[in-house]
Amino acid sequence: MSETAKLELDGKSYELPVVTGSENEKGIDITKLRAMSGYITLDSGYKNTGATESAITFLDGEKGILRYRGYPIEQLAEKATFLEVSFLLIYGKLPTRDELTKFKESIKKHTLVHEDMKQFFTAYPAKAHPMGILSSLVCTLSTFYPESLNPNRPQEAVDLTIHRLLAKLPTLAAMSYKNAMRHPTMYPNNDLDYIENFLFMMFAMPTEEFEVDPVVANALNVLLILHADHEQNCSTSTVRIVGSSQANLYTSIAAGISALWGPLHGGANQAVIEMLETIKQDGGDLEKWIQKAKDKDDPFRLMGFGHRVYKNFDPRAKIIKKACDDVLGKLGIQDPVLDIAKKLEEVALSDPYFIERGLYPNVDFYSGIIYKALGIPTEMFTVMFALGRLPGWIAQWKEMIENGEPIGRPRQIYVGANERNYVPIDAR
Ligand code: SDX
Repeated sequence: MSETAKLELDGKSYELPVVTGSENEKGIDITKLRAMSGYITLDSGYKNTGATESAITFLDGEKGILRYRGYPIEQLAEKATFLEVSFLLIYGKLPTRDELTKFKESIKKHTLVHEDMKQFFTAYPAKAHPMGILSSLVCTLSTFYPESLNPNRPQEAVDLTIHRLLAKLPTLAAMSYKNAMRHPTMYPNNDLDYIENFLFMMFAMPTEEFEVDPVVANALNVLLILHADHEQNCSTSTVRIVGSSQANLYTSIAAGISALWGPLHGGANQAVIEMLETIKQDGGDLEKWIQKAKDKDDPFRLMGFGHRVYKNFDPRAKIIKKACDDVLGKLGIQDPVLDIAKKLEEVALSDPYFIERGLYPNVDFYSGIIYKALGIPTEMFTVMFALGRLPGWIAQWKEMIENGEPIGRPRQIYVGANERNYVPIDAR
């Protein structure tokens, strides 16, 4: 007998099916609630609402567990490469050596963008934020590949679009950086692997030799893996709902990039560094800033702290914090901002306000410090988040399409004016 939930409404009793996931998460299936009772549910910010059943990422906020397709993030960060993890998320299994080779070769074939894409950069103001450029240009890719407008094509055609996107996002990201610096664009160098090629396109100059520092490449590999997916977060839910209208993959990902830009989401990594720099400029009075974060009348929040799901610790933050010491040590960098971050974490985590609300450092709290040490400019931090999250967004979009999920269209409870008649302007 399958489990049900009983609901008493207006003297009537309803039974709703209970769904149990493979990790024993429970959900009440309300698909038929409105038809049965006329009622809908209300859940601002979807804090208690499951949008789908997914086999991609499992996370347990209380236990600080994060697994991609069942593999613990700690093992993947230590042992895997970012493209291996991308294959795992998108195709549901770790690739064989041959599958990974073919995947890499296919991506290498598409690292260039159409020369006409360079025209767009001339129109952006010098100080254009790269997230605004990236979102626009990813959507623009759909105009260069009109056949991609239909998401329901044979797997081979969908794979081509997926591999094109994985190949071109680093190229567009690097182009937006070179454009902002008014430096010459560096074309992809396919003799390098995915991450080395990105670093080459970002930091090489046509007039000089360029060597990728393995410490930098390894650190970036870990950071991109840690950002690769995170189940139904704001930007992933955006990708899924845009894709649910049968909009193409490029435009669905462009929407995800836009959602990620917000400082409460992926934009937090830039906001964290700006906050730490402000605290440093202000003399480093941590108690003052902690009080501001607690003050309901003060809009200031401790950026990089708190999470919708993780209420004890974000497993990614733990790995990144350790990587901070490792990378800065290897690169011989002393960054006072890291010391401020560590002290801020210590002070906050001894304060009942943060403990009672389960506010701990999240993935964004330390990541910016590493990006800074790798030479990546602050405005590019959220672009790095998007590069990491791309395979997760693609995997989630692919799952939604393959499962034939319906177009997303939430309901509402109307609280506006009741029916009234039009009043001619002279009578108002
Ligand atoms: C990411 O969802 C994901 O998976 C996202 C992500 C991913 O991988 O995709 O993990 C990436 O977006 C990480 C989060 C990055 N954002 C920040 O660091 C911004 C700072 N943090 C927040 O604004 C906040 O914590 C959120 C947005 C992350 C979560 O907000 P919730 O779950 O909606 O919680 P809330 O805003 O309702 O806060 C609950 C309480 C409130 O106080 P009370 O009303 O109970 O008195 O905690 C307080 C909030 O005021 N609070 C904070 C705080 N975060 C929450 N107070 C001070 N500083 C903070 N950072």
